[in-house]
Amino acid sequence: MTDRKKRILTGDTPTGKLHIGHYVGTLENRVKLQHEYETFIIEADLHALTTLNKEPKKVGEYLLETTTDNLAAGLDPEKVTIFAESGVPEIYELAAFFSMYVTHATALRNPTIKDEIKIKGLGDIYSLGFVNYPIYQAADILCVKGDLVPVGVDQLAHLEQSREIARDINSLAGAKIFPEPEGLVGRVGKLVGTDGSPKMSKSIGNTIFLGESPEEVERKVMSMYTDPKRIRATDPGTVEGNPVFMYLDTFGAAEHSDAIADFKVRYQEGRVGDMEVKRYLVGVMNQFLEPIRERRRFYETNPGEVKRILREGTERARTIAAESLSEVRTAFGFKIY
Ligand code: TRP
Repeated sequence: MTDRKKRILTGDTPTGKLHIGHYVGTLENRVKLQHEYETFIIEADLHALTTLNKEPKKVGEYLLETTTDNLAAGLDPEKVTIFAESGVPEIYELAAFFSMYVTHATALRNPTIKDEIKIKGLGDIYSLGFVNYPIYQAADILCVKGDLVPVGVDQLAHLEQSREIARDINSLAGAKIFPEPEGLVGRVGKLVGTDGSPKMSKSIGNTIFLGESPEEVERKVMSMYTDPKRIRATDPGTVEGNPVFMYLDTFGAAEHSDAIADFKVRYQEGRVGDMEVKRYLVGVMNQFLEPIRERRRFYETNPGEVKRILREGTERARTIAAESLSEVRTAFGFKIY
């Protein structure tokens, strides 16, 4: 391989707008590392059919939303390549090769797949595509030879699978076609939901979206779960594991650390009410979200620009993916006719 810049490949499933959990899990690292790495962001629209298979037309709408969210978060469209999975059919052919090297048992043993089956209440009614999606995800990453994959902690099982696939293909090919991609978990690998459940997730309905209006942020924060054992403001409260304080630490740490430290002391001593702490958090969240909202407004009023960015990115990714696929075909001897 040449001495090119290392590559980032990561992405989203366009099943809805992105939220602050996505931000701390992966978007923050994308923004931070976009100049250091050659960065590719895949909006995995085919992958979205794992949950939206009954409403496929919604995926296109969400594709524009998640692309807009990435731009709003601060990705520079001049620097990064944002592309749609469905526009790079080479991914599916790579996935077909890959699927020959993953056993049925391995696919079903994936802990994230098992968790999702539970969270989404799928029972035993899920598609083959659903259990297969980590293999598609490996093809998403490897089609552009991604070295680093910034993700939330729940994606690490898929990364392990991708690394194994890269190893298997390389060893069969007798050449290092693919890097073994490394996961990079964000500052907060898994953000608690506004309801205190361990994961912020659209399917649970405990999210704060990146494009949320100040009024909605206020409504959501003011009804957040806190310390359930605390009834009066004079009761000593618990800070650890309290979602309000977790959000304060996550989104207000640098600028508000003195105020937050003071709130923590007063909360534990029963000298401040939940409402006052929440009101402070509303300000912190809105301050954090304002620049994102502002960039979002620009792209929302220029959807043609978002489409252009996607179109050009997809073309670029496709050229690279075609080269990777051709290397695999050649190494497997599939080019004899
Ligand atoms: N599965 C990821 C998620 O739901 C999204 C995704 C699709 C992805 N393809 C990817 C992430 C490739 C990293 C690399 O968040």
